[in-house]
Amino acid sequence: MIGMNLVEAISTRRSTHALCEPAPEDDAFVSLLEIAATAPDHGMLRPWRWILLRGAARLALGSYLSRGAPPERQHSASAKAKRTPLMAILVFKPSVHHKVFEWEQLAATSSMTYAMMLLLHASGFGSIWRTGSLCTNEELPRFLGLTAEERVLGSLDIGTPLAVPTDVRPTIDIASRVSTMSAPGLSTNELGKPIV
Ligand SMILES: Cc1cc2nc3c(=O)[nH]c(=O)nc-3n(C[C@H](O)[C@H](O)[C@H](O)COP(=O)(O)O)c2cc1C
Repeated sequence: MIGMNLVEAISTRRSTHALCEPAPEDDAFVSLLEIAATAPDHGMLRPWRWILLRGAARLALGSYLSRGAPPERQHSASAKAKRTPLMAILVFKPSVHHKVFEWEQLAATSSMTYAMMLLLHASGFGSIWRTGSLCTNEELPRFLGLTAEERVLGSLDIGTPLAVPTDVRPTIDIASRVSTMSAPGLSTNELGKPIV
């Protein structure tokens, strides 16, 4: 159940590394996704899908990743799949040769994913978007049964937070990231209406 207002959800969400059971069931995941899928999407292409891995499937993914990794990284590769009850693999499936550029489709996919993270957080679950070797492993698409056009954008690891990160985000001068363009000497805009 969602129990937070928007400002609280945005302000208090953190990427949660330490996750345990329970994670949302498949039907709960789909219910949240129905809401997240209303994120802005040029062309309404919904150029994405999710593959949910739990239990044995998750462990199989871990062994698969470790087999392809150099010896010194094999342990960490298999550990990646053990650290969360639910790995939701984010698959990007852009419409190629579409008038909506691929980067716009990627932006729509990110918007949906962030909405999903907020909804999970507001429902009491933690999540973290992980990329790394999931995105670079050349064999993984075949393991997951992806088509040639599809790409792994990482995993949303989801579960119940064991510990919520307490580290403070680096502060930035937000106001410095905003500028207002002025047109000195101009008294009317292009439509002929007074500016002030
Ligand atoms: C596209 C994307 C990829 C990310 N990949 C990783 C990752 O591979 N490993 C990781 O620990 N965190 C990853 N993160 C999480 C960021 O590190 C995290 O959002 C950042 O540290 C800020 O923390 P916060 O989300 O709690 O504000 C990723 C985030 C995004 C948006």
